[in-house]
Amino acid sequence: MSSVNNPAEKNLAALGIASAEQVQSLFADLRSRLDSEAASVSDANSLKVFRDAWFGRKSGVLTLVGDNWLKPASAELKRSVGQELNKFKAHAQSVLTEKESSADSSSGDSQAAFDLSLPGVIRPIGTHHLIRQVFQEIEDIFFSIGFSVVEGPEIETPYYNFEALNIPEHHPVRDDMDTFYLDLPKGAPGPLLLRTHTSPVQIRTMEKRQPPIRVIVPGKVYRRDNPDATHSFMFHQIEGLAVDSDITFCDFTGTIDYFVKQFFGESVKTRFRPSYFPFTEPSVEFDASCIFCAGTGTAKTGGVCGKCKGSGWIELFGAGMVDPAVYGFVNYDPKKVTGFAFGIGIDRLAMLKYGIDDIQVFFQNDVRFLRQFP
Ligand code: FA5
Repeated sequence: MSSVNNPAEKNLAALGIASAEQVQSLFADLRSRLDSEAASVSDANSLKVFRDAWFGRKSGVLTLVGDNWLKPASAELKRSVGQELNKFKAHAQSVLTEKESSADSSSGDSQAAFDLSLPGVIRPIGTHHLIRQVFQEIEDIFFSIGFSVVEGPEIETPYYNFEALNIPEHHPVRDDMDTFYLDLPKGAPGPLLLRTHTSPVQIRTMEKRQPPIRVIVPGKVYRRDNPDATHSFMFHQIEGLAVDSDITFCDFTGTIDYFVKQFFGESVKTRFRPSYFPFTEPSVEFDASCIFCAGTGTAKTGGVCGKCKGSGWIELFGAGMVDPAVYGFVNYDPKKVTGFAFGIGIDRLAMLKYGIDDIQVFFQNDVRFLRQFP
């Protein structure tokens, strides 16, 4: 209630109230004032003004009425003032309660409907692991030159993992691929092993299909290697195999060169070095010029480049022309077909491209590492 012409600030005598009827009509006026002020309460601010004016402890209307009307009332009027004041207080309290609850619910509504500034619920979205991203990158490059993807089992027989690849028992190359053999129940046909490379899928593919063949084989492989910065007991390879009636060493070098330039960039240089695999002849190791020192052998900060150890070259993978002996295992005529094969270690390739110096970070699932490759 505005303090101008506020009857609660005066006592009954000053207001000319001398009878119980006049007291009733005085409270009726007060009640209609309260109702009209309550009607204009529309939000939290106007509710506060209303509450302070009527219920304020020191100078709210209810306090003033008690102090100015009830306390000094004459003995004849005291009873009727007390009764009217109690009724008025009950009415005023119910009006206030109603206003407070409608202010609560309307402020809730308006927030739900209109407060667009509230932060949304953040739902983290996963991404592909860097190794999977590199697989896809490599697959796309080979798709663009007519290769398709095939897959094979991770649990293999020694025949596919070794013998059919021209690696007979007691061949020294088996020592380089220290193998996990499965502990099979007594009497089970065996032995079985975890494949040590993706090359067995060469044999499985040639058994099923006739040339021309152009496939890549992405997958996991396993070796009893002690873990260090460049070795893991489980890692990833992509095998490549192309067999046709007239594939030459030039087709082989051109394909590999195309892949490396697409993957690392045009400026990278490539070279072959003689090597040995029982299932390719001739066999090569394939190197790329060091992407860290641009093939100079000198680190950008000066001194010997730590990545290529000053040679300017980094070994990427093994490859070669398919050994004619292998065709004998899949009933191809070695006089009619030729082909090439390669086996790329994906983890080390990813380390090179993305400057990662420890292979173990791929398998530790630390999100601080994984989030760097969204
Ligand atoms: C082979 O596995 C042959 N099958 C590759 C091949 C295929 C040659 C077809 C010719 C024709 P090698 O043992 O070198 O080759 O392994 C190939 C690649 O796997 C290596 O260059 C390296 O990048 C990766 N690699 C080998 N051992 C590990 C290991 N313990 N941890 C991580 N990567 C490894």
